Amino acid sequence: MASIIRIEGLTKRYASGFEALKGIDLTIEEGEIFALLGPNGAGKTTMISIICGIARPTGGAVVVAGHDIIRDYRGARSAIGLVPQELSTDQFERVIDTVNFSRGLFGKPRDDAHVEKILRDLSLWDKRHNKILELSGGMKRRVMIAKALSHEPRVLFLDEPTAGVDVELRRDMWKLIGELRKTGVTIILTTHYIEEAEEMADRVGVINKGELMLVEEKTALMKKLGKKTLSVLLAEPIAALPPELAEWDVALGADGQQIDYVFDTQAERTGVSSLLRRLGDLGIGYKDLNTRQSSLEDIFVSLVHQEKAA
Ligand SMILES: Nc1ncnc2c1ncn2[C@@H]1O[C@H](COP(=O)(O)OP(=O)(O)O)[C@@H](O)[C@H]1O
Ligand SMILES: [Mg+2]
Repeated sequence: MASIIRIEGLTKRYASGFEALKGIDLTIEEGEIFALLGPNGAGKTTMISIICGIARPTGGAVVVAGHDIIRDYRGARSAIGLVPQELSTDQFERVIDTVNFSRGLFGKPRDDAHVEKILRDLSLWDKRHNKILELSGGMKRRVMIAKALSHEPRVLFLDEPTAGVDVELRRDMWKLIGELRKTGVTIILTTHYIEEAEEMADRVGVINKGELMLVEEKTALMKKLGKKTLSVLLAEPIAALPPELAEWDVALGADGQQIDYVFDTQAERTGVSSLLRRLGDLGIGYKDLNTRQSSLEDIFVSLVHQEKAA
């Protein structure tokens, strides 16, 4: 695979003096889906804004499809489609007009066949004569994507495509993004949902406080950070954790009704069965068990931990 975006030593200091990006190095391969994963305030939107020419970098370089974003802004920008975090469109415009207009902004001649293909791919063709205000929230998001794709960009940025969206729409969006990748467009999305990165991405970059903490193939990342929490709902509350459980990383819930055990799904021995056996030996009965994947927050905690240990 050839690389389509090269970012070197990218820094951003806002006028306030705040350092939002602290030297980012990253290469994006053509055709991949890359998820930039990080909590609110990590610098995701700042990074995208710089690549798309909306914000100026303080230092470093970005090259998109062979075009330097500063020296050859127009060349770089025309290779990029951006769906910003905040959706904004003229509500009174009709779907097809707004998409045609977006294309025109990039100096591209009108191309009805291309616009029809985009609208069909996004299941918007039947709605093409509707005013945007007549569409559902999900359809409005699709219009934003259609606009971003109108000038045939090679890279599509989706900044928090499903923030504040209900579960059904989120799944819809994931399916749609999966289909878009078949058109060959490189997709970079930002998210603070680990589930979204897990579902969509080929590679994941974890960003925190302006620093890229790691970049990894998703499958490798999920393995590496594949921690789960087992919750054991007790038949009877207990006052304190018995010392016989000290060898497991367990915590007792506030009401004494539940024991939580954090374990590594990739470990040869997860400790789950031995813990349950020990509970049995201690005469501690339970009524229910469930496990959940670690949250992004847990992962950050473990990353920071690793850094300290290194
Ligand atoms: N125009 C600005 N001036 C000063 N600080 C800003 C500005 N825009 C963003 N920031 C700060 O930079 C940090 C990163 O913001 P942002 O890139 O929007 O994060 P994310 O998209 O990951 O939530 C935040 O702490 C934010 O408050
Ligand atoms: Mg953001």
